[in-house]
Amino acid sequence: MEKLVIENSGKLQGNIRVSGAKNASLPILAATLLGTEDIILEDVPKLKDVEIICDVLRALGASVENLGDGTYKINSKNINTYETKYELMSKMRASFLVMGPLLGRMNKAKNSLPGGCTIGARPIDLHLKGFRALGVECEEHYGDSDNGQDSYILAHTENLVGNKVYLDFPSVGATENIMMAAVLAKGKTVIENAAMEPEIVDLSNFLRKLGGNIKGAGTNTIIIEGVEKLYGARHQIIPDRIEAGTFMVAAAITGGDIVVENVIPDHLRPVISKLEEAGCIIKEDGENVRVIGPEKLIPIDIKTLPYPGFPTDMQAQFMAMMTQAEGDNTVIETVFENRFMHVDEFKRMGASISVNDRSATINGRSQLVGNKVYATDLRCGAALILAGFVASGETEIYNIYHIDRGYENIEEKLRGIGGKIRREID
Ligand code: UD1
Repeated sequence: MEKLVIENSGKLQGNIRVSGAKNASLPILAATLLGTEDIILEDVPKLKDVEIICDVLRALGASVENLGDGTYKINSKNINTYETKYELMSKMRASFLVMGPLLGRMNKAKNSLPGGCTIGARPIDLHLKGFRALGVECEEHYGDSDNGQDSYILAHTENLVGNKVYLDFPSVGATENIMMAAVLAKGKTVIENAAMEPEIVDLSNFLRKLGGNIKGAGTNTIIIEGVEKLYGARHQIIPDRIEAGTFMVAAAITGGDIVVENVIPDHLRPVISKLEEAGCIIKEDGENVRVIGPEKLIPIDIKTLPYPGFPTDMQAQFMAMMTQAEGDNTVIETVFENRFMHVDEFKRMGASISVNDRSATINGRSQLVGNKVYATDLRCGAALILAGFVASGETEIYNIYHIDRGYENIEEKLRGIGGKIRREID
């Protein structure tokens, strides 16, 4: 079994470059199913999740060429099935994002239910609510097997027709899926209480390049006028704000001095503000953000919210940092109902944390001690690496396939700023 071994690394220092965003790449790769001509995508990160969605596209009949250096050439003119298989869908929740594009292209989609990180129930009711509003009949089939192998959604329509869709929660995936179906629907779709994440804006920009007519992405009301057909385009994926935030916390937790390159600072406002509250000095210079960690971290409180609130995907990394602040810190998780699985792992390293429902109190400062720990999900894995940098002894992180799903060349990048991190096989 592969593991990452981390040692106390002192103050991390130097420049580190952020890759293209995983959470923008996945919906945009799914959306390539909507185009009928060549599509070139640039700055696609080299990640397990990207490989999975490319395999999903290939299984549907698209041609997907990896041209190297993060550039992909995709052509979906000849997609020949509307059915996605359990074997691929179960590997990653975001595979469900092909459902909207398949409905747009073929008026029909059969999808196994999605897998992915186990950070809550993560239902798909809002995706289906949106499709139904566009005139799609969605048959939900739930089988008996524990792994969901025989459960699927069969969706079909004579014609996609634009409509008003109100999302009860601004779900990122549901907003994306509905946008991708509506772009080829007849007439106007209005998504109200839409997610406002930068990745939604990137998807909208991409769909517009393909010939789509979309306005309002980045606000809570997205208006889509359906078009007959979408074509080809060249598009560069935005930088990964969560990877950037993770590197910023690496400076904060180690009292280091790191210049994070290829950042859109506006995408990181809550993260930057909270790091400043914790005592960091932040200097923005165009696409670079320099973070200087303090000698002593100040305790802070965070509450996760949909964008532009504090991102749930940064919660675990901040909790690692909070174990090093003198005093009580609190975290309130409002986006996912089961996103404190990292708490037990931090406790194995000596952290003092108590959880009450969706709120956690972190009592610092703890001298963390290296131990065997498990990446229970992607961001938990990243947070354990950060904790390992300040712990005494060696921290061995298992289940690192979660980390490889979302961080490109993580060891190499972190070694470049002085991180003592190596991959070993047990
Ligand atoms: C995306 C991100 C993920 C991030 C999350 C929240 C991708 C590939 N993943 O996930 O990294 O943590 O946004 O910022 O972009 N919900 C429903 N019904 C639905 C859909 C969602 O109740 O039909 C609930 C979920 O259970 C969860 C909340 O809404 O509690 C947020 O989920 P959502 O925004 O949909 O997250 P994802 O798109 O899965």
